[in-house]
Amino acid sequence: MSFRLASLLRPELADVQSYVPDPGRYPVRLDANEAPALLGDATRARIAELVAQTAWERYPDAQAAGIRQAFASRVGVTPEQVLVGAGSDELINLLLTALANPRTSGDAPTILTTSPTFVMYRLSAKVRGQRVVEVPLDEDWDLPIASLERALELCAPNIVFVASPNNPTGTLPSRDRLERLLDLARDSLVVLDEAYVDYAAASLLDLLERDNVVLLRTLSKIGFASLRVGFLIGPRNLLSEVDKVRSPYNVPAVSQALGEAVLGELWPEVSALVARVIDERERLSAVLASLPGLTVSPSAANFLWVRTTRPASEVFEALKERGVLVRSFHARGGRLARQLRITVGTQAQNDALVGALREIVA
Ligand SMILES: Cc1ncc(COP(=O)(O)O)c(C=O)c1O
Repeated sequence: MSFRLASLLRPELADVQSYVPDPGRYPVRLDANEAPALLGDATRARIAELVAQTAWERYPDAQAAGIRQAFASRVGVTPEQVLVGAGSDELINLLLTALANPRTSGDAPTILTTSPTFVMYRLSAKVRGQRVVEVPLDEDWDLPIASLERALELCAPNIVFVASPNNPTGTLPSRDRLERLLDLARDSLVVLDEAYVDYAAASLLDLLERDNVVLLRTLSKIGFASLRVGFLIGPRNLLSEVDKVRSPYNVPAVSQALGEAVLGELWPEVSALVARVIDERERLSAVLASLPGLTVSPSAANFLWVRTTRPASEVFEALKERGVLVRSFHARGGRLARQLRITVGTQAQNDALVGALREIVA
């Protein structure tokens, strides 16, 4: 590092890269697990109307009361059990900042998670100087319970992160293993990240009765990634402490107003979008599985986890040349060198992907 105050930087930053999505322009972009653009004209007109009503000169509601109430009613909890963030990313940061008291003084706090999983658990912990322990998922991409048990004993994490469904594998952790993990991790906070739950048959809401569990949800995967709205659900006494870390006006007024509408009057439109994506997921999954050299894991999310007999990097580059961007994990090596993550798009986007793949695997 070569600027005057570089010596003041946390040393961990030297090993971390900024999160920069591929800036290229691709006709078919299936890399970020966003929902496809399926909102109807009436919905778009209603959104424009709500935007026009924004009090632009005012700060947003610091308590985000309207959207908190709307979300709480939708999931059947009280508003005091909900915190709203600028995406679940911000809520992950708030948890890591608040629950950062080391077990032994002078030590860094530790987080435990699995691999592969959502990268922000690791990155957000690292930039805070925390230790990150990652335990590889088993051969079915399920929770490796024996290794997790050992890791819990050895590293006494402050926080355990589990995504359900998991990104990038699209799989749900099996319920008995998850419950076993919760029993074993009684002295840690377990964050169950349900970013993709709207596409899954099962939710983990009932596990909130345990006092060491919180859940994350988001509007990002169901058509409103642009708003940056995420939710943390958990015990009110914990949330009121975590809330002390939050910036006062963290969620923009326009995101609060539109998010409240998404959870209320626009919910039928969201449900229809989710149903269409699930139909497409099943169709696309069957088509991809029929192509030579590709194996598709069962998905409970809005993306597919595809194993390639050829190196994934080659298939990824060949798709890019044909204007289709997916996500490859080949840089991580090992078994990930033959895996691609493909977001389910519109029927036309998925057909374009299949057309390109047919050429590539032929
Ligand atoms: C498992 C998981 N959690 C959280 C997020 C981030 O969601 P948000 O857009 O609400 O910050 C993602 C985004 O890809 C994700 O895959």
